[in-house]
Amino acid sequence: MTGSEPGAAQAPDAGTLGAHVTRQLLRLSEIAGLPDVDSHIYARTLVEALGPVSGRPLDLPPPSDSFLSDDHTPVEYSLSFEPGRAPTLRVLLEPGAGAGGLARSGRTGLRVLRELAGRWGVTTTPLDELEDLFFPPSPEGPLALWCALELRPGGVPRVKAYLNPAANGPAHAAKTVRKALKRLGHRRAFKALPDGDRHLFFALDLGDWDEPRVKVYLAHHDLPAAQVGGLSRMDDGPEPAEIEEFLRAATGPETGADGLAGDGGPQPRIVRRPLQTCHAFTDTAAGRPGGFTLYVPVRDHAPHDGEALARATALLRRYGMDPAPLQPALAAVTSRRPEDGVGLVAYLGLAHQHGRPPRIMTYISSEAYEVRPPAAPVPAEATAGR
Ligand code: TRP
Repeated sequence: MTGSEPGAAQAPDAGTLGAHVTRQLLRLSEIAGLPDVDSHIYARTLVEALGPVSGRPLDLPPPSDSFLSDDHTPVEYSLSFEPGRAPTLRVLLEPGAGAGGLARSGRTGLRVLRELAGRWGVTTTPLDELEDLFFPPSPEGPLALWCALELRPGGVPRVKAYLNPAANGPAHAAKTVRKALKRLGHRRAFKALPDGDRHLFFALDLGDWDEPRVKVYLAHHDLPAAQVGGLSRMDDGPEPAEIEEFLRAATGPETGADGLAGDGGPQPRIVRRPLQTCHAFTDTAAGRPGGFTLYVPVRDHAPHDGEALARATALLRRYGMDPAPLQPALAAVTSRRPEDGVGLVAYLGLAHQHGRPPRIMTYISSEAYEVRPPAAPVPAEATAGR
């Protein structure tokens, strides 16, 4: 970002990260039914938000060891499905990727986010109120600042900011979350949260949301499926059986009786990312979360993306959502066959929020740098004609 005119960015050169994500975003936008003009605005915005790393040739290594995606691409897409409508396209990005260290990444991220927010007439007040908590002089942890844009028609996205509870050291993460919630007026929210192994993200909806949420993400390692079902602290939230079912369907048949750790057979046991939950708070008086989401790292439970796609498709159908856009969405980001790698579908999420039907989110990797090989290669003839 140079502070120049909105949208004044040059089209990125071929073979750069910017060109790669531009192509992906334009194709995904079409699948999500966004008007052409908006798609182009959003693609330019993405390139600008990434800043100098947009111009980085793809044959160089990733700009930083971003935790945002497995291959360190500082961009990830997602489609959020609801019954009876086209999925909503969102893009998650690390605006400070390649800035050189967490402190700089945070400063760059804040500057970029504020500039974008100003352009869209979005207030950053909640973020400003928390700056000292999440942006100490010598931050620690896996990220400094991410932002997600929900790409709705009209060229002005809904904005979300993701902050790092471990910024003051992992040992202080819980305290940082508690303070942040309190500062935003959610005095009783911290106590309402379930136990978890780690506070991963603290997220803020910024600007024009019907009900802006403050969200707390927790990681859960090796939790039996039956207990995962009981993690929601929403009033009138999902039944434990529903959450457990979703988990089982997303993790697949390899899942052992404990819900997660298949015995791995003769293969070395893969190290799996934890499950994540997110509790969303809107009403400061309520003290209870109005939303609960479960995220399953499907890529750590499937041999290849063909299987991840099949599980996502089955789940979408089960919830009365049209899975048709998903396969084309994968083809929009890569020309490889889903069976030839694993990780293109990074997570499957199930979101419950008061006053809305459940949503299913599919997280789609950009794979700008690397494809994780499938656990068991599938011969081409086995999938021919699909
Ligand atoms: N890459 C990180 C992870 O796998 C963070 C992340 C990216 C993430 N997209 C996500 C976490 C979607 C949960 C859901 O944990």
